[in-house]
Amino acid sequence: MPGLTSPAKSPDAWWRNGVIYQIYPRSFQDANGDGIGDLTGIRQRLGYVAALGVDAIWISPFFPSPMADFGYDVADYCDVDPRFGSLADFDALMAEAKALGLRVILDLVPNHTSDRHPWFVQSRSSRTDPKRDWYLWRDPAADGGPPNNWLSNFGGPAWTLDPLTGQYYAHMFLKEQPDLNWRYPDVRRAIYDAMRFWLRRGVDGFRVDVIYHLIKDQLFRNNPPNPAFIPGGDPAHRLLPEYTADLPEVQSIVMEMRRVLDEFGSAESSRVLIGEVYLPVQRLMNYYGMDAAGVLRGAQLPFNFHLIGAKWQAQVIDRLVREYEAALPPGAAPNWVLGNHDKPRIASRVGAAGARLAAMLLLTLRGTPTLYYGDELGMTDVPIPMTEVQDPFEKREPGRGLGRDPQRTPMLWHADEQNAGFTATRPWLRLGSDWQSLAVDRQLGEERSILQLYRRLLSLRRHSRSLHEGAWSPIGARGNVLMYARGDGPERLVVLLNFGREQASVDLQALRHASQSLLHVWLSTLQDRDEQLAEAVPLRPEEGLILGRGHRPG
Ligand code: GLC
Repeated sequence: MPGLTSPAKSPDAWWRNGVIYQIYPRSFQDANGDGIGDLTGIRQRLGYVAALGVDAIWISPFFPSPMADFGYDVADYCDVDPRFGSLADFDALMAEAKALGLRVILDLVPNHTSDRHPWFVQSRSSRTDPKRDWYLWRDPAADGGPPNNWLSNFGGPAWTLDPLTGQYYAHMFLKEQPDLNWRYPDVRRAIYDAMRFWLRRGVDGFRVDVIYHLIKDQLFRNNPPNPAFIPGGDPAHRLLPEYTADLPEVQSIVMEMRRVLDEFGSAESSRVLIGEVYLPVQRLMNYYGMDAAGVLRGAQLPFNFHLIGAKWQAQVIDRLVREYEAALPPGAAPNWVLGNHDKPRIASRVGAAGARLAAMLLLTLRGTPTLYYGDELGMTDVPIPMTEVQDPFEKREPGRGLGRDPQRTPMLWHADEQNAGFTATRPWLRLGSDWQSLAVDRQLGEERSILQLYRRLLSLRRHSRSLHEGAWSPIGARGNVLMYARGDGPERLVVLLNFGREQASVDLQALRHASQSLLHVWLSTLQDRDEQLAEAVPLRPEEGLILGRGHRPG
């Protein structure tokens, strides 16, 4: 029966166009009254997340950890830290997520463990311990100092001398986060088994922490100086990470990880590998893992962070999207990110009106967007007084603006409850002074809040085929207005984003050329217009518009 033999087209590749919502578990909802969020808290708030209209949650690490780097220092890959709950709480969360139609993505931190992980405790115990080679141990340099010039991403050398055995161990982050030796097969096997542990529990994929750092130079050569380094900037940028990041051998590991996921599905599996990769566009593309036959065997979604660093100008964003789209290997799924737990929040970077424009940009580009919790409320970075600083990065490099506490403050649920309903006790990080006006319940009661804009954009994405999976075609940037189209034929729609602080006007004739008959404003970032358009489209300062034919779907 010929009709039945043709392979189904991407039956379950939800991650191609789905929307991912990142939850920082310490800050989402505290259910056990200790001022820190937990898994039960997340479960209680899943209804909100599902109603927002996203497809998946990614939860930052909740594994047992001494919390030197708030969970990115894992002491056991296959359990839950008691501060966050238990495995039973996790299973309950999974069940609730499935019932609500939400996928669950975990954070895998394979580059390093905690220094309290039993593997490291054993490894450091003697030079001849069977686990010695699980980590990167080197003799001191001739002068007794570190073996080479490698720098920690958190400032200072990437080496710490362990007096017990007289050798240094490598750590790309804190000294409490020793780097695993990914050239050693047992290490790979152990981490892949941890992945299988969670896959068997039903998780839909992993976001892999600093995946591009996993392999370091076998000869431990010095990193070269960075000619573009500006004194006073992030001290880790003093050197170029030539021998510590993005080494060619890392690609085989990415592919191995993907194969572990594929054990639990098909090539177009519903399990997804997302890589945390801060690299220029061209180098980022390697992480899709295209083989000689053109098959993509790497991460389905190497995170595209380029909107985070890009100058907030129509021409710049236009160039960036074109460059990224053009660089994608055939069949690769694009993805976009505005912020995360490591970067200043979008509303602080571009202002309140800009944050609305950014929401429209993120949710109308092609591919998979990832939202950072609270950005849908327009939350801004909260200044944290020195005495309340939690982040080790800020503690090590104070006052440089590198600390990440400001973007990790508690989610704002209720305008009339203590601590916005996040916790009944003192929260681990303070709330911003504007918390009441930003709270979820307050914004749900306002017709034109940024939260309503997010909900409308997400609903439109879901109901409009063009937005959900249609092609992306540039129209260009004229002055401050970025213009592009989504989809083909009569369903084609146009997005206009005015990055400027002044009014702008776009000639409808020019747009007609791009899309024969564009008649309606489907959505404005200001959510106050719904008109048919005549000759020219007036745009207010920092206004974004989605123009479609006929009435808005959904
Ligand atoms: C990643 C995480 C960051 C963490 C670091 C070390 O960049 O996103 O929060 O501090 O890795 O694990």
